[in-house]
Amino acid sequence: MTKTAPNVHTPVLEKEAIEFMKLTPGAKCIDMTVGLGGHAKAILSRTDGKLLCFDRDAETLEIAKERLEEFGSRVEFVHSSFAEAGEQARSHDFGEVNAVLFDLGVSSLQLDTAERGLSHKNDGPLDMRLDRSEKLTAAYIVNAWKEKDLVSLFREYGDEPLALQTARAICKQRPFTRTVELANIVVEVYRRRGWRRSRIHPATRVFQALRMMVNREPDALKAGLSEAFELLVEGGRMVVISFHSGEDRIVKRFFVEQGKRLNSGQILTKKPITPSAEEMRYNSRSRSAKMRVFEKGVKQHVKKV
Ligand SMILES: C[S@@+](CC[C@H](N)C(=O)[O-])C[C@H]1O[C@@H](n2cnc3c(N)ncnc32)[C@H](O)[C@@H]1O
Repeated sequence: MTKTAPNVHTPVLEKEAIEFMKLTPGAKCIDMTVGLGGHAKAILSRTDGKLLCFDRDAETLEIAKERLEEFGSRVEFVHSSFAEAGEQARSHDFGEVNAVLFDLGVSSLQLDTAERGLSHKNDGPLDMRLDRSEKLTAAYIVNAWKEKDLVSLFREYGDEPLALQTARAICKQRPFTRTVELANIVVEVYRRRGWRRSRIHPATRVFQALRMMVNREPDALKAGLSEAFELLVEGGRMVVISFHSGEDRIVKRFFVEQGKRLNSGQILTKKPITPSAEEMRYNSRSRSAKMRVFEKGVKQHVKKV
């Protein structure tokens, strides 16, 4: 990945996210997934406050720093997973913030960088780590896991309808080292079942499941949501944009739990916000996006009689 990357990631639901963040003068905010800084730039342009930016991908963070240079000391950066946001934020004097944004998943640049192994379209090593200092890679899972564990992974994290057949074909023909080899096996499984061509490539779900496992995304998200909630002031808002049903389920559950059971705020989006037809047309990556928003409130104590 080069440092001066071209503008290859279009922020999704940017206008809607910024509106829901309800940015006031002097607001302190956190962008949990700064990526190439698209949303961050919009936030910093909207308020004269401060923004703390997280990303677990060190190379991406360098690009964001360069792109947000014009905002000087109003923006700070942390190379860390948002799962550890609380401690990091407090040590940067962001212990109480007005708004937090999560724009989950990976950026178009990460997807398009073949050497990261994130896309079935670009031939690269079966890596998929967002933080390259971590040990677990997609190659290890694909080549070492038992068939039954692969089946569960593809079902649980990918909603893959042919999980069993795919896992079986993988175990029969492994080892694999390249993304395209793996993608071809999935295509073969689908072809045997009469698949022709479709808008969504058949390997999409298997790749998504592997990426989620390599980066332990569901656990990180659950931890990140709790950390963010703790950092919010009363009336502070949490905006979360997700890109598949597994992620959206975690967000929805967390908000319902906070709102209904713990009575600690309210959900501002009864139904998730989705991109307009126009946005989907000019940015096809936005098609699966869902945005949910929560506002932290004063905890109501129910008096027992
Ligand atoms: C969809 S991109 C964000 C794009 C950004 N909003 C923009 O407008 O350019 C998601 C980013 O989140 C980062 N990421 C994914 N999981 C993370 C985690 N657990 N902690 C911190 N960053 C994470 C990825 O490395 C990626 O850069």
